Amino acid sequence: MNSSDIIEKIHGLKRERNAVILAHNYQISEVQDIADYIGDSLGLSVTASKTNADVIVFCGVHFMAETASILNPDKIILMPDINAGCPMADMITANALLSLKTKHPKAKVVSYVNTPAEVKAESDICCTSSNAINIVESIMDTGEIIFAPDKYLSHYVSTQTNRKLIPWDGYCPTHVKILPEDILRQKKSYPEAKVIVHPECTPSVIQLADEVLSTSGMCKYAKTSDANEIIVGTEIGILYRLSKENLGKKFYPASENAICPNMKLTTLEKVLWSLEDMKYQVKVPEDIRVRAKMAVDRMIGVI
Ligand code: 13P
Ligand code: SF4
Repeated sequence: MNSSDIIEKIHGLKRERNAVILAHNYQISEVQDIADYIGDSLGLSVTASKTNADVIVFCGVHFMAETASILNPDKIILMPDINAGCPMADMITANALLSLKTKHPKAKVVSYVNTPAEVKAESDICCTSSNAINIVESIMDTGEIIFAPDKYLSHYVSTQTNRKLIPWDGYCPTHVKILPEDILRQKKSYPEAKVIVHPECTPSVIQLADEVLSTSGMCKYAKTSDANEIIVGTEIGILYRLSKENLGKKFYPASENAICPNMKLTTLEKVLWSLEDMKYQVKVPEDIRVRAKMAVDRMIGVI
């Protein structure tokens, strides 16, 4: 089957099943092109919370599909490839978090959405890369805050607020591949270019940036800023969307090594099979879902 046949079949099955396709900004170009909505973790969560569809095909990684399940217990959430996980989310477990909480019994817990549902269930509030500063500032209690699992996002937020954060020792294996020397090399090659980076980057990379933005924040910046050339410090899948939406502007990856293999597991064929076979369904158990939803709802209430 060629890709136009696959696309036609996907559209037919979408109508038949009343399905919507959500895709993260890092997905491969063909998948971005068939999506009803492309966005960052926050945008995808909010869209998932508002959809009237019966079925959500989630083209992203596992924690994102779980968040859709947390917000939509009555809908069918499908992942075209169930092996698409997030190594950072796997760097924390609910038991490990509970053990840290016993050492800091008064601390509030802010968990990045890149966490398993069980961890969200033990958290006071969630955040994403686009709202982490606001979420931390929304906590009235000025005592300690456990911020998990991304130590670099935690460091960045602590430089932007005057709150005491207790970091977790997690990180994104893709974003740590972007090195300060990559930014310096690209700046030398493109002296007029602005530098935008994701807050999952290391502090030495963040220091060299003009703007620190979530993936959708980057898309907005590219459209609204006067910059005609932009060096992009995040997973390189986003360059497709940036170039498509901003004809005439030039985008350069900070590093060609910044590839998230899990984000590349979803293909057009797998999206089709997923709708044909109604696989792979992601459903968070009800007792965990109810507690995790409180943390996700609190986040959605702040933004
Ligand atoms: P965004 O919320 O900025 O899209 O980030 C999600 C993610 O996994 C980044 O690596
Ligand atoms: Fe997880 Fe990093 Fe991949 Fe984002 S880019 S899904 S944080 S491993």
